[in-house]
Amino acid sequence: VAGAVVPRDLDGARVLVTAGGTRERIDAVRVISNRSSGKQGYAVAAEAAARGAAVTLVTTVDRPTPPGVAEVVRVESAADMEAAVVPRAPEVDVVVMAAAVADFRPADPAPGKIKKDAGPPAITLEPTHDFLVDLGRDKPAGQVLVGFAAETDDVLANARGKLTRKGLDLIVANDVGAPGVGFEHDTNQVVLVGADGIDKDVPLSDKRAVARAVIDAVVALRPRAAA
Ligand code: CTP
Ligand code: CA
Repeated sequence: VAGAVVPRDLDGARVLVTAGGTRERIDAVRVISNRSSGKQGYAVAAEAAARGAAVTLVTTVDRPTPPGVAEVVRVESAADMEAAVVPRAPEVDVVVMAAAVADFRPADPAPGKIKKDAGPPAITLEPTHDFLVDLGRDKPAGQVLVGFAAETDDVLANARGKLTRKGLDLIVANDVGAPGVGFEHDTNQVVLVGADGIDKDVPLSDKRAVARAVIDAVVALRPRAAA
């Protein structure tokens, strides 16, 4: 809202945000990816910066850098994202993993371009590494770790399972099967599921308003600075 006062409640905080779907190489020209646009992650980065945080944005997409974001790291694959995020994570106060990280990648990407004459190639997939599990396991004291969960069925139960399994403080549960929600849209509708057992519904809103609700929850979870 024009003229609205934005609280500077992340002044001095370091925040790492990931955004977009990873791209996994099939050959020199083809990739496997997903429908994530990166918009929700960019909105979280913009909101955190507006509230005073020093923000690093690790992204697979080429969107305009939000005002005030201190560092942008462009990556392609899940492995690239892991290499960018894992060494930075111990240095930050908040991690928001909004990226849609591939679960599988071609096991043996071709160095050149696969030609069509040989017919449809059989592409063998192998699992990627779920580095959010590592971030949860190695979380520094006082860090707030936020995941996203894209679900089409049993949204809350699945999101709660991920929250526990990955050692998160908060998970943003996204019903990507619902109209106007999630991938490629400018709007989103989520439930914020907290490790404290508290759920908060965020009604269908633009992604910046959803980002505001996510950052409000992060601020509430941050340890009070010692006086
Ligand atoms: N994530 C990750 N590394 C992966 C896969 C996922 O860091 N290899 C992170 C995502 O960034 C997200 C969270 O884990 O914050 C949940 O991702 P999601 O795809 O919803 O859950 P998965 O655990 O991958 O389970 P599934 O895809 O089967 O629902
Ligand atoms: Ca997944």
